Amino acid sequence: MSASALRRSPDRESLVEGEYSFTSEDFQRISALIYEQAGLALTESKASLVYSRLAKRLRILGLPTFKDYCALVASPAGAEERGAMLNSLTTNVTRFYREPHHFDHLLDKVLRPAIPFLKGGGRMRLWSAACSSGQEPYSMALTVLSVLPDAPKLDIKILATDIDSRILAQARAATYPDDLVDTP
Ligand SMILES: C[S@@+](CC[C@H](N)C(=O)[O-])C[C@H]1O[C@@H](n2cnc3c(N)ncnc32)[C@H](O)[C@@H]1O
Repeated sequence: MSASALRRSPDRESLVEGEYSFTSEDFQRISALIYEQAGLALTESKASLVYSRLAKRLRILGLPTFKDYCALVASPAGAEERGAMLNSLTTNVTRFYREPHHFDHLLDKVLRPAIPFLKGGGRMRLWSAACSSGQEPYSMALTVLSVLPDAPKLDIKILATDIDSRILAQARAATYPDDLVDTP
């Protein structure tokens, strides 16, 4: 018996051992939906991650199989669950000044050279395109304020977006425990 067959035992159809059978067909259906919905490309190497994140959804919804879950998310009635599925599959790791060289770059290569332009009324737009719970755009704002304390009076704006609606709500609330606000 091959190693992969052993891995699939006792349910030979399932890509992942666990409470639910999760077949290649289930994975392909979910992967196609997520690609269509959000442009996220999931390969079968992510089967364990997809299984563990979505098994929680099956439990919450009281669905007995991934086939039922796939049928739900593919149906018109599954619009809300498609959102929950996407939120479950994102990875939201972040912190203030994560990957500090980005902020060094922003400071030295973008902001400092632009100070005269900005003080003269010039316009600057910054974008945290995948902002998670907001630590990145707030670190950008702190970086701006470190060289331009009068930034609120200037034409500088920071846009923050994320594909995950649940984490974006946390960014909007912008409430952080003290231990997360420590700067490096
Ligand atoms: C690992 S976090 C990184 C957060 C932040 N940029 C940082 O570096 O600290 C990745 C974020 O990207 C978001 N994301 C993934 N694909 C996205 C897309 N196509 N558009 C917008 N956000 C996306 C996820 O929801 C997640 O919150």
